[in-house]
Amino acid sequence: ASWPPFTNEPLTDFTRVEAREHLKQALERVEAKLGVEVPVWIGGQSRTEGDWFDSLDPGDLSRVVARVRKGTVAEASEAVAAAHAAFGAWAATPVAERATILRRAAALMRRDRAELTAWIIYESAKPWKEADADVAEAIDFCEFYAREMVRLAHPRRRDVPGEENELVRMARGVAVVIPPWNFPLAIPVGMTAAALVAGDPVVLKPSENAPAMAWHLCRVFREAGLPEGVLNLVPGFGEVGAALVADPRVALIAFTGSKAVGLSINETAARTPAGQHHVKRVIAEMGGKNAIIVDDDADLDEATLGVLHSAFGFAGQKCSACSRVIVLADVYDTFVKRLADAVGSLPIAPATDPDCVVNPLIDRKAFDRVTGYQARAASQGRIVAHVPVPETLRNKGHYVGPLIVADVDPQAPIAQEEIFGPVLAVIKARDLDDALAIANGVEYALTGGLYSRSPAHIERVRREFLVGNLYINRPITGALVDRQPFGGAKLSGIGTKAGGPDYLLEFTLAKSITENT
Ligand code: NAD
Ligand code: ALA
Repeated sequence: ASWPPFTNEPLTDFTRVEAREHLKQALERVEAKLGVEVPVWIGGQSRTEGDWFDSLDPGDLSRVVARVRKGTVAEASEAVAAAHAAFGAWAATPVAERATILRRAAALMRRDRAELTAWIIYESAKPWKEADADVAEAIDFCEFYAREMVRLAHPRRRDVPGEENELVRMARGVAVVIPPWNFPLAIPVGMTAAALVAGDPVVLKPSENAPAMAWHLCRVFREAGLPEGVLNLVPGFGEVGAALVADPRVALIAFTGSKAVGLSINETAARTPAGQHHVKRVIAEMGGKNAIIVDDDADLDEATLGVLHSAFGFAGQKCSACSRVIVLADVYDTFVKRLADAVGSLPIAPATDPDCVVNPLIDRKAFDRVTGYQARAASQGRIVAHVPVPETLRNKGHYVGPLIVADVDPQAPIAQEEIFGPVLAVIKARDLDDALAIANGVEYALTGGLYSRSPAHIERVRREFLVGNLYINRPITGALVDRQPFGGAKLSGIGTKAGGPDYLLEFTLAKSITENT
């Protein structure tokens, strides 16, 4: 295919009046469609008989965003059967055709961009800019993986006189895709698109907190021309995911979510019951306890903004979010004061409000978890800021104000455990050695950052800070497809890089073919 090289989809500039107006109108149009029905969708057939659950707007719990068919374990099995039946024909479909479907899906998401953004705002309470970036990333994944698969489809040749050698890539089999809720379009689209373009039919088990976006994904791929049965949707809860993972007909599981669920999937998938003639491949991208180191010669204005943005944007509900800031002793007091003074300026608001930075948390469970950590924080350090939630919002949704705790011991629970909310632990380090030891002293290794002007320190941190994505003198969230392939090490993940050049290799099998000529 002679396609232009991949470039990242531009983000919408909401400082422009027209852009703001465009999204406002989309929010109004989507508001009229709230309560949409999300079915179980197997082999191209929608199933509406059975139990249902509601997906609510976290910012206004009286608003039902979607009514969702609660998939069953039996339907999980039927979905795998449909995907399994579709495998042969889909794997034999020319790569150019599969890749073209991804590019069509990208074009459809471009066409529907404002409405998709609006759905994310309602269903996940994601602020405007971040919801827009979510759709842009979904488009990027399709455009990028389409080109990547075309590249991989060229056999690697190593011929010598009398012997022809080629290495070819084949589809693996049925892929189960289990995404989290917090990148409600980008992550499900990324994992699904990768499997599809590699030739692997998909059973998608969306997050119970973002089923509407998964249904939009299915509609986009159907409209893009995907044959029936190649993509199947079973909305539901953990038990549906667990049943899919255990199914012996499944070849691969692409999971993104918490450490606990990722590790349990890895264990279940490792079993090979009699009759299963393959070892399942697991891709598990998990949590983080990400740190930014602030050096004693850092630009403290930049560092303050970067830390606040990384810690509290989307209320800290990103695997990439900063939840520890490690500050060198010489600038510690000054930096803590700046952080504490600045955090109050971040607007706490419903995500439908264009100014929102700190949105409500996704659900009651998240609220209880995060407020529990906040309640215990005073015994683990010195509270230097706790921004109150405006009175008018208190009972409307799961709002939690940003909390900054200073003088935290590196081993304290708030400095070790993923909280996934607006809680930031500030830790003092004697020097860079100490800062690096603290930064690396957690079980996770996802993102990390450094603010420094010292080339020698930058060089050391580049080498010694063990993370999957390291950012220097900038915020630590918002990785872009291709530019910053994303994924962590240690208990943050198995080491695959979404949006990177190696990702599709996970979804394929390699065959080396030699012919004596
Ligand atoms: P989660 O682990 O609770 O849920 C993720 C998915 O797993 C959901 O679809 C859920 O229904 C399903 N699930 C639950 N139990 C299961 C089981 N026993 N078997 C199979 N599936 C099961 O995570 P979440 O709350 O949706 O998302 C937040 C977490 O995701 C955080 O830990 C965050 O760091 C992580 N995350 C990681 C990345 C990354 O790229 N590393 C990206 C986004 C989010
Ligand atoms: N890829 C997302 C980010 O970098 C999680 O913020």
